[in-house]
Amino acid sequence: MPDVSPSPSDLAAIVLAAGKSTRMRSRLPKVLHPVCGRPILAHILRALEDAGITRRIVVIGHEAETVRQKMDTLFGAGTLEYALQIEQKGTGHAVRMAEAALSGFAGTVLVLAGDTPLLSARILRILLAEHARTGATATVLTALLPDAGAYGRIVRSESNEVLGIVENKDATPGQKQIREINTGVFAFHAPALFAALRELSPANAQGEYYLTDVLAILRGAGKTVRAVMTDDTDVILGVNTRVELAEIAAKMRSRILRDLMLSGVTVEDPQTTYVDADVTVGQDTVLEPMVKLCGATRIGADCVIRLGTVIADSTIGNGCKIGPFAHIRPGSNLAASVKVGNFVEINRSTLGEKVSAAHLTYLGDAVIGANTNIGAGTITCNFDGSKIKNRTTIGEDVFIGSHSTLIAPVTIEAGALTAAGAVITKDVPADAIAVSRVEQKTIPGAEARRRKRLSIPSRRAENAVQSGSEPTP
Ligand code: UD1
Ligand code: MG
Repeated sequence: MPDVSPSPSDLAAIVLAAGKSTRMRSRLPKVLHPVCGRPILAHILRALEDAGITRRIVVIGHEAETVRQKMDTLFGAGTLEYALQIEQKGTGHAVRMAEAALSGFAGTVLVLAGDTPLLSARILRILLAEHARTGATATVLTALLPDAGAYGRIVRSESNEVLGIVENKDATPGQKQIREINTGVFAFHAPALFAALRELSPANAQGEYYLTDVLAILRGAGKTVRAVMTDDTDVILGVNTRVELAEIAAKMRSRILRDLMLSGVTVEDPQTTYVDADVTVGQDTVLEPMVKLCGATRIGADCVIRLGTVIADSTIGNGCKIGPFAHIRPGSNLAASVKVGNFVEINRSTLGEKVSAAHLTYLGDAVIGANTNIGAGTITCNFDGSKIKNRTTIGEDVFIGSHSTLIAPVTIEAGALTAAGAVITKDVPADAIAVSRVEQKTIPGAEARRRKRLSIPSRRAENAVQSGSEPTP
């Protein structure tokens, strides 16, 4: 395909996201429901960005402030533009709300719905390239479906030219037979679009201002209207119910895993592996079954993420071994070659190179230097019941004995050792040993005397009777 795409400054997009979405039965606006860790609307805005469109106007209405705040948090305030549609009078009316934002803009504007998260940058680029190549005033993205359902139908002339779109509810029985449908994605010459929108009338089955009527209006004005058919019919899949939410998430999940596998990541069981859209995983890393990688997690190369491990919003360096059954919570940062074993929870903590926390441990608000060994059952006591989480600082080459309880805030300096079972309440200087336990007292024969006093039979005696050997008192 020749590169005739317009430069980014000649491109803009209008995303329609003002609708109410009653069928979700949710307090959360539909477009904010996450699909693979990212709100539905954010998927579309990212696809636009990936297709080179930075100027994006989101038409909001239902729960407008909530939608705006969430998008500004994700994309940065000032990155997106918003147009308010207070009353939802149809898709054509919604697009008109963005006219003021685009006043003076004479380039190409894409119009699309905010609830189709599988729409890809690849398809948008194809649409834009075709729109530019033909020099059409309007280009609609269409799809050929076995069953056209409730979608708008593409009406063509004998010579196959696009005449317009007829909505399912307004279609004649003959038109209902048409299998080419409107995906709801368009490219327009912006000034022509806004001029045509002024001519819309709500004289139709739904009493709405249909964006789709614009095509026939433009044609009537002697403009060229074209269609591009998509080879990927998933682009039309909109989320309307939570059933569709799960179906679309499943499709996106397998796309993400497929891309990971093709980039050199081993996914042992794609059926049970969950990786969010914004996660990155390095080459030759192995994901065992039932692994969940969430949010903005970054996993390095040559790692093994073992069975049942959950990692959220954390960075894992190269060559780490995590799990089975480990939980790495947001804000954690593991350097290269770290080992985190079974039933270990790590929260907002930084672990230096080759740190090992192999068994049954909680590390919260901790900074741990390289080569330090965290013994089984170590707990950082970061929470004292107040609002503040206290820090534990552990230097390099430290040996934390098994079942150590580290009462934060506390610092254990490089090369130090805490004896098994220690309760550490005071800082430990470099290369020191901290022992904190009551000295053991052993009383010979005391237990035999206790058994006798309370008439408790000896276990050893019972076992010996069962196995037929001589009983021991
Ligand atoms: C629309 C198209 C139909 C197409 C289908 C593809 C029209 C008239 N029909 O139908 O041809 O096959 O999409 O999915 O355009 N919205 C607003 N404000 C409004 C109305 C809608 O922001 O006043 C938003 C909705 O939130 C949604 C999008 O526009 O994101 C599409 O609206 P929807 O009501 O779903 O249109 P369809 O009936 O599906
Ligand atoms: Mg729809």
